[in-house]
Amino acid sequence: MSDILGYKGKRVVITGCFSGMGEAAARILLDLGAEVHGLDYKDCTLPLASFTNVDLRDPASIEAGVAGLSGKIDCLFHCAGLPSAVFPAMDLMKVNVLGMRHLTELILPMMQGKGAVASISSTAGMGWSQRIPVHMELLMTQGFQAGVDWCEAHMDQVAEGYAFSKESMNVWTMFMGARMIKQGIRFNCTMPSPTQTPMMKHFHETAGKGVVDAAAEPLGRYTTPEEQAGPLVLLNSDAAAVVNGVVLPVDGGFMGGVVTGQVDMSMMMANAQQDA
Ligand SMILES: NC(=O)c1ccc[n+]([C@@H]2O[C@H](COP(=O)([O-])OP(=O)(O)OC[C@H]3O[C@@H](n4cnc5c(N)ncnc54)[C@H](O)[C@@H]3O)[C@@H](O)[C@H]2O)c1
Repeated sequence: MSDILGYKGKRVVITGCFSGMGEAAARILLDLGAEVHGLDYKDCTLPLASFTNVDLRDPASIEAGVAGLSGKIDCLFHCAGLPSAVFPAMDLMKVNVLGMRHLTELILPMMQGKGAVASISSTAGMGWSQRIPVHMELLMTQGFQAGVDWCEAHMDQVAEGYAFSKESMNVWTMFMGARMIKQGIRFNCTMPSPTQTPMMKHFHETAGKGVVDAAAEPLGRYTTPEEQAGPLVLLNSDAAAVVNGVVLPVDGGFMGGVVTGQVDMSMMMANAQQDA
């Protein structure tokens, strides 16, 4: 079994390939012999099969980007994302949820009955189970603009946008996984713990380093983009053929530590606030 992941010759589309986890995932996919098509609003210089400037906040830009692709697409990777505070909440909802959904809906027919979609969520979205009906309401809206309208009418839920958008992505992953498996398409996502990417400086500026460090326990360090890209690539691979609707923590044990009481978030957050 020399190609257990099965990427040789596969045609994959990846967003967010300019930097961070998306760039790392694109590099791995190239190494594995995939034909990689990148979409980002910043120019990507990797030796991809194609690269198109796409702004996920703009449905017309997404549609133009997909129009430039042809033939069968095997896998879709959603790695683009925006942090809160530096960008308005609605930008986050557009990039992290509505643009992602719009792009997926355009790519699904191109998968021709067999494919896989993997997205990057966040441990910030770990509270998804506490408001599933709210997320389902948003996810049931039809089309990009209807999603924008729903968000604008529910800013009390959306708030700063980051946690809500990541929760939505988790619920969307489970919903789409169950909905599309009979049509041969799997959906999964990862929830990374703090990771050393260009986004990290924004997290430090907005949440504070103490809070971010607290979320890096019990591992005790930030992960690397490559450590996040590996599980993402695995989820969309042939080796994960029946892994579907999974929201996978890639966090060095953070989730396990929280639910078994070994990571005491409240005490750590209080300590982090004292340090601030
Ligand atoms: N870094 C962390 O600690 C961390 C932790 C958990 C989750 N995440 C999530 O991981 C994902 C990847 O982020 P990262 O940490 O690699 O940061 P990053 O800033 O390096 O990567 C984000 C990518 O998204 C692209 N992008 C942003 N807005 C876009 C738009 N409007 N249209 C098209 N592309 C756009 C950027 O150009 C960049 O390539 C994000 O969804 C982020 O929320 C990050």
